Amino acid sequence: MTVRVDRTMMRVLSGEAVWPPPAWMMRQAGRYLPEYRATRATAGSFLDLCYTPDFAVEVTLQPIRRFGFDAAILFSDILVIPHALGQDVRFVEGEGPRLDPLSDRAAFGRLRESGDGAVMDHLAPVFETVRRLRAELPGETTLLGFCGAPWTVASYMIGGRGTPDLAPARALAEGDTALVDELIDRLVTVQTDYLVRQLEAGADAVQIFESHAGTLPRAVPAAGGSVEPVGDVAESALPGSAPVDALTRWSLRPIARMIAGVRARVPGAKIIVFARGSGLDGHARVVPETGADAVGVDWGVDLKALRGRVPASTVTQGNLHPETLIEGGAALDGAVDAIRGAVEGLPHVFNLGHGITPQTPVAHVERMLARLRG
Ligand code: CP3
Repeated sequence: MTVRVDRTMMRVLSGEAVWPPPAWMMRQAGRYLPEYRATRATAGSFLDLCYTPDFAVEVTLQPIRRFGFDAAILFSDILVIPHALGQDVRFVEGEGPRLDPLSDRAAFGRLRESGDGAVMDHLAPVFETVRRLRAELPGETTLLGFCGAPWTVASYMIGGRGTPDLAPARALAEGDTALVDELIDRLVTVQTDYLVRQLEAGADAVQIFESHAGTLPRAVPAAGGSVEPVGDVAESALPGSAPVDALTRWSLRPIARMIAGVRARVPGAKIIVFARGSGLDGHARVVPETGADAVGVDWGVDLKALRGRVPASTVTQGNLHPETLIEGGAALDGAVDAIRGAVEGLPHVFNLGHGITPQTPVAHVERMLARLRG
């Protein structure tokens, strides 16, 4: 017997304008929650937390219990993929992730091949976490899986860390472009499998995090000219094809291939793409150029302007500034009202414009939800 459940977030991802909009927050399980800090203290390292289903299920459920969000997001990290490919990944307290930088062909040659069964075996605890979550979550709560977009994950793999301007990744993209293409191809294949396995394990929908889209130029330079002002990865023409801008080549097209690959195996799979820093234009291109069901909107984009640019049927998600959530009070109320005003009658999922930060007061999250739903 199939049980019909009414998951509001899934209705929105299918194009329905639900009011008030369903809500969740990027990084909703995290250090701003005392219960997360308590579990984190007993779990060992951050990766132990990700790979131990008992812990990962617990921290995923914590924000659902406390706030009743409409969606839960699997607790893991985008960097479990480089780890599964055999790269050394560590999370240094207070500093963020560190990887052994993959700077040449020799290092690339040491990565596991996409068909190597050891890659998905390494990720088995993640799929177990998804299975248990779907069984334990309330029926009306949407369960989201996720992965990083190939460019974002590749930039960590190449740079070894999230350098502010991703200089190492961009230097390699300008130099050995073939190597970057191969790395992106490997990530497209592996992460397509990874998303399919999450969906098969019980995820209702998945989100692809392109957190470093802002480092990719979005225009094809005029002949002989250079690209301003977003970055300086050279314009990149594939042999025999028309020149395309770097956002298209390294981000939107690889994401489009992943989405097509996932849908070929999971027909109708619902997919959100968050292309942070890609600007109003980049955001407007996400759905038409990748085939995503929804576009995640970062806090730097004017949501009303974006809604004016895209068809009314486009599903948007976001874009409350995480700092406004820290500020609270009238500023927070005003920002929630502005988002409501921009999306009333349109399909929208309420969220932040980037992850919640550790210093955010829990009471402000409660106030945000009360204002949204009130
Ligand atoms: O949203 C969620 O609640 C699901 C879990 C999740 C985490 N990371 C947990 C996490 C998700 C979806 C991510 C995605 C992720 N990881 C991204 C894309 C989204 C974004 O923020 O742009 C990126 C770039 C990463 C890489 C990463 N992981 C960084 C840069 C850091 C350090 C930043 C920090 O806050 O310390 C992490 C660690 C990390 N991933 C934490 C959490 C809760 C904090 C680790 C801790 O508990 O100390």
